[in-house]
Amino acid sequence: MGWVQVPCRQETHIGAAAGDLLLQDARGDFSAWKGQAQCVYLDPPFMTGEEFFLRMRVGEKGWETGKNPLVLPAYSDQFESKDVYLSLLRAALENAKMLLNETGSLFLHLDTRMAAYARILCDEIFGENNFVNEIIWAYQSGGRSMKRFSRKHDVILFYRKSRRQYFDITAVPLPRSENRSNHMRRCVDENGRSYRTIQSGGKTYTYYDDEPVYPGDVWADVSHLQQKDPQRTGYDTQKPMALLSRIILCSTRPGDLVADLFGGSGTTAAAAAHHGRRYLSADLSAAALTVCRKRLLNTALTLTAPTQKLQNARMEADFIPGIAFHDVHLADYDPGPNVPIRGLDAVDQWSVGFYQDGVFRSQSNAARRRQSPALPDLLQLPQLRGTPAILIADIYGNRSVWLQEET
Ligand SMILES: C[S@@+](CC[C@H](N)C(=O)[O-])C[C@H]1O[C@@H](n2cnc3c(N)ncnc32)[C@H](O)[C@@H]1O
Repeated sequence: MGWVQVPCRQETHIGAAAGDLLLQDARGDFSAWKGQAQCVYLDPPFMTGEEFFLRMRVGEKGWETGKNPLVLPAYSDQFESKDVYLSLLRAALENAKMLLNETGSLFLHLDTRMAAYARILCDEIFGENNFVNEIIWAYQSGGRSMKRFSRKHDVILFYRKSRRQYFDITAVPLPRSENRSNHMRRCVDENGRSYRTIQSGGKTYTYYDDEPVYPGDVWADVSHLQQKDPQRTGYDTQKPMALLSRIILCSTRPGDLVADLFGGSGTTAAAAAHHGRRYLSADLSAAALTVCRKRLLNTALTLTAPTQKLQNARMEADFIPGIAFHDVHLADYDPGPNVPIRGLDAVDQWSVGFYQDGVFRSQSNAARRRQSPALPDLLQLPQLRGTPAILIADIYGNRSVWLQEET
């Protein structure tokens, strides 16, 4: 029996933490979440003038070796002028303020190009009194310059929505480093606890070795993603989970909503879900959503992004009815003409579920990953009421939903 494509505007699946992924402009309408976010992290384009890409691994071999990835455009960081750039930033910041509740926090991630302008914008939108920190994220990666001091930091502007802000630095302790306290006198108290003391300004300061220390506003302990880092998704400008974990843990409690309007590969959403927070992640790039969807397949999510009909595409699957579960075997996929790779190598993720009125409810998912480069071609669909459907997310960033052809 054949399968036909149907239009789909939304997809949902169940899991542990709940979140929304949207194919939407950061300047768009987010009023459905008004006042609900505890933390908004924004990592917009930096006005570098560059184009950025997604390096998508292809097929079992490609996933095993990382060789010959398909390079897809992800987003352009080119703006006609500074004013055009700043108008995007202004609209996104206004949305961020609208999304935050009264105890919420904003983190705006930039580099030295636009940070000064952004600081003035944030002062205007959030109020100078609500400025909390200019965090410097210092790293070692990238090239070195002999013409100037190498630029080795990003800037994260931290604002609160109001004086009622929630902030818990004890949620982000650092291991006490040996070298930092080497210059202090080392002692042991009557209970056998080791501590260090230092005199300064006529006072004696005591630090117990087993007590945590907390980060200052220069974060040099969070490393950029290394070339072979297992976190890497292939999406340019992906940020490390450790950076987002620190931001989320100090500014939110479990169950809170964390929003990111330039979500990219979904690092914020993945870190939020990992720490038991809900997430809202929006991005304009379909490539970003493909990566993000895969990172979050184990969480409860609603993905709002209309599918586009793939002209002359074809999908073949065998649907074998069972008693409690149906077996669905993916046999072939052809995304249509003018593409270099077809067949199951062109499939990055697929799901089986039920379809109704433009919504696909996923019940079971399979995706290629580094740990499992081969794509499982058999999924089970529980015997529930509804129209069985298959969702294919291919290596070109297309999502399509298929129903069995009526005979
Ligand atoms: C620096 S990247 C974000 C990377 C992300 N933090 C991560 O860890 O993967 C910026 C993102 O903003 C998206 N973007 C650019 N303009 C946008 C707009 N007007 N609305 C929403 N997203 C936009 C790009 O597609 C890109 O994914």
